[in-house]
Amino acid sequence: MELGLKGKVAAITGGSEGIGRMTAERLAQEGARVAICARRDGLLREAAAAIRAATGAEVLAVAADIGQPGEPERFIAETVKRFGRLDIVVNNAGREASFAFNDVSDDDWQADLDLKLFAAIRAIRAAIPHLQASGAGRIVNITHVGAKQPRARSVPTSVSRAAGIALTKALSKELAEHKILVNTVCVGLIWSGQWESRRLAQAPHETPAQFERWVMANRGGGTGAPLGRMGRPEEVADLIAFLASDRGSYITGTAINVDGGLSGAV
Ligand SMILES: NC(=O)c1ccc[n+]([C@@H]2O[C@H](COP(=O)([O-])OP(=O)(O)OC[C@H]3O[C@@H](n4cnc5c(N)ncnc54)[C@H](OP(=O)(O)O)[C@@H]3O)[C@@H](O)[C@H]2O)c1
Repeated sequence: MELGLKGKVAAITGGSEGIGRMTAERLAQEGARVAICARRDGLLREAAAAIRAATGAEVLAVAADIGQPGEPERFIAETVKRFGRLDIVVNNAGREASFAFNDVSDDDWQADLDLKLFAAIRAIRAAIPHLQASGAGRIVNITHVGAKQPRARSVPTSVSRAAGIALTKALSKELAEHKILVNTVCVGLIWSGQWESRRLAQAPHETPAQFERWVMANRGGGTGAPLGRMGRPEEVADLIAFLASDRGSYITGTAINVDGGLSGAV
């Protein structure tokens, strides 16, 4: 299927590992030029070099802490400065933050909202004029199935992610007149950099496959996903690439689960 991504420019936050990195690679494979950002500069540059080598695409790497005011705006500005246009924004950077309510301070709430909500708000605000000029702008916000069906001890992330879904819906209606489509992909348990870091911290003696089995038995209400395994970043990236493409031209305001059936909410 021809996705119509040749010549498009995409900015992906959190593009050095996991879902963000795989999304950058998929879009690059389809002919897009991509900009990625992350805090750890070395890993970011390695990822950019690997994507360039695998796809031949132009890749811009911008070291940035997207949770800080001004940084999402700088990332978007540097992308437009380098490539001269912007068609696609993927707000992906994030981290796990699920705790009991009484264990979360005001600072913790603020940090989570800064990273998962305000980073998207700031990037989108900076990107809108360019997406408007594109004539076929796309925004894909990465959120979590727990936003639709929050479990106990899931704050602040379930609340930040629910705000991301509401932002997606409100903007899809407001930006439709500018031909900008806005969707969110609600992920479940996806094996990625954050899970490998947790394996190394919690159970370095276990293989990734053993740790994945433990995750499946102990997360998602102890039932794991009906498909019986964690997802892989490429399984999320394929949907993001489709939503970002010409093929997704009549899809806006949706919140699509990619969770192996984990969530009880559609
Ligand atoms: N994988 C899952 O099971 C799962 C579940 C629920 C939600 N999600 C969400 O899905 C998204 C992608 O997750 P993933 O599992 O692919 O994550 P990952 O493998 O841990 O990668 C996260 C990426 O985001 C970057 N990042 C983190 N904080 C950042 C910041 N403040 N500024 C700029 N970049 C930042 C990381 O680089 P640096 O650390 O160098 O900055 C890295 O490139 C995240 O929003 C995550 O919360 C994932």
